[in-house]
Amino acid sequence: MVGAVLLDRLNRPLRDLRVSVTDRCNLRCTYCMPADVFGPDYAFLPREELLSFEEIERLTRAFVALGVQKLRLTGGEPLLRRDLPELVGRLAALGGVEDIALTTNGLLLPRLAADLKAAGLRRVTVSLDSLDPEVFGRMNGLNVAPERVLNGIEAALRAGLGVKVNTVVQRGVNDAGLADVWRALRDRATVRFIEFMDVGNHNGWNLDAVVPSREVLARLAGAEPGLAFAPVNPSYRGEVAARYQDAQGHEVGLISSVTAPFCGDCSRARLSAVGVLYTCLFAGTGTDLRAPLRAGASDADLRERVAAVWQARQDRYSEERGEATPGRAASKVEMSHIGG
Ligand code: GTP
Ligand code: 5AD
Ligand code: SF4
Ligand code: SF4
Repeated sequence: MVGAVLLDRLNRPLRDLRVSVTDRCNLRCTYCMPADVFGPDYAFLPREELLSFEEIERLTRAFVALGVQKLRLTGGEPLLRRDLPELVGRLAALGGVEDIALTTNGLLLPRLAADLKAAGLRRVTVSLDSLDPEVFGRMNGLNVAPERVLNGIEAALRAGLGVKVNTVVQRGVNDAGLADVWRALRDRATVRFIEFMDVGNHNGWNLDAVVPSREVLARLAGAEPGLAFAPVNPSYRGEVAARYQDAQGHEVGLISSVTAPFCGDCSRARLSAVGVLYTCLFAGTGTDLRAPLRAGASDADLRERVAAVWQARQDRYSEERGEATPGRAASKVEMSHIGG
């Protein structure tokens, strides 16, 4: 594959690999792992099912050889995976990787931020949906206070990590407090507001609960007299968030998977904690890479398998969602298996 760029059927290169390291989480966000489904009896993956760090490293090397430049560790909550800084160190040592990031709920950052940074992590994306304790407590399913997440953000900044904040917006749930989140964090982090999506099978999605990004921007602007936003050019092709800036240079990102899908430039592959490769966040099925890996496949064999999957790829779910005949299976992979 050296030299030629690997393209899928819609001419999209493979640039970005997101690796889930656990399906467990210490929160129960209603839109992701609702507590009534993910309760005390829920069967999470047993440890031996998970890819080991060696296995993740080997598979990642195959993806990097095929063009991947950006890595993101996800979960569930990736900081629950024991010794995660060790994995970061292994991945940072792979040649060819330009960027390693992590998506987290932030609760364990006070304990882990410095070690992650030392291991080679560049930046974290922390989820925080509201600063209102009542609203956030309800959304995270366990009544955890927003201060716990803010402490994690502070710890990441102190450790020298770049910080982005993800806020999922749900109409009638947290939409009244969006400007508060942005104002509290805009000096230190890029806040991105995400349109509530129909991922997984349990989050009770419906279009009425989606606040279109343009409405979010209008609400932010309306929260302060004289506030106005101008668009910022994307920092790379296929950037998920559309970014805007106010006159002081404070940024806000809008992720509009529902009202302005960005499948056309989607260069993201997702590897679940058990080694299943998914080519779309909304996929019904994936391709097991763990079986060949554990059966002794060579590096070349692994690369060929990944290349074949990517070459056959034609996913564009978010674009199809708005079309008359959405072409997707009724059962989708859970967000907690592929980390968003
Ligand atoms: P950077 O810009 O490099 O920080 O990465 P990113 O924007 O891809 O990061 P992040 O994982 O934080 O993405 C933010 C959120 O956007 C995710 O958690 C998802 O909710 C959503 N998202 C990311 N990638 C996709 C995608 O391929 N399709 C859809 N529909 N949503 C996505
Ligand atoms: N819609 C939009 N974003 C979601 N996330 C999780 N579930 C959804 C959903 N249904 C976000 C989380 C986190 C990232 C992993 O994905 O808030 O920031
Ligand atoms: Fe956990 Fe993140 Fe899902 Fe919330 S959105 S339940 S923090 S994995
Ligand atoms: Fe990529 Fe699928 Fe998201 Fe479209 S819906 S941007 S193809 S992950």
